[in-house]
Amino acid sequence: MTAANTLSWNDAFVLGDARTDHTHQEFIDLVNATTAAAPEKKLAVYQELLAHTVEHFAQEERWMTACGIPADFCHFGQHNSVLEVMKEVERRALAGEPAYIGSMIEALVEWFPMHASSMDTGLVTYLQEKGFDTATETFKDGAPAATEAAVPSCGHEPGHSCT
Ligand SMILES: [Fe+2]
Ligand SMILES: [Fe+2]
Repeated sequence: MTAANTLSWNDAFVLGDARTDHTHQEFIDLVNATTAAAPEKKLAVYQELLAHTVEHFAQEERWMTACGIPADFCHFGQHNSVLEVMKEVERRALAGEPAYIGSMIEALVEWFPMHASSMDTGLVTYLQEKGFDTATETFKDGAPAATEAAVPSCGHEPGHSCT
């Protein structure tokens, strides 16, 4: 196992929403488990990571949708791009080319801290401002009016790609 292919949970990953933090801890554990897996088990563990990532992203997207954030917001796009590549890597591994799994893990190790510290951090702040409780997936004081559902900042300038 090399440092380049693993992530270590640290305070920087604590975003202050218990469900998000728990999901992110599981994601990191599965990234590290994929790296640590023996060659004959690697694809199966990678598929666990892929299934978890589908759920992880769907969870955040469900919360964004509940808050009225439109589906063309860049956070959705970044999730889609990552999942597309992850699924292609699974297809290739199933076709007998498992080497791409290692490259995918390296890319995720580089990508995840940036995503967590920008888009997921912005989302957690936004959900807290809107009074959205991720444990129950309900609003503490009722859903905000549509006019209040301003899109959270992703940290990118308008017109610049976020993916
Ligand atoms: Fe996330
Ligand atoms: Fe996200």
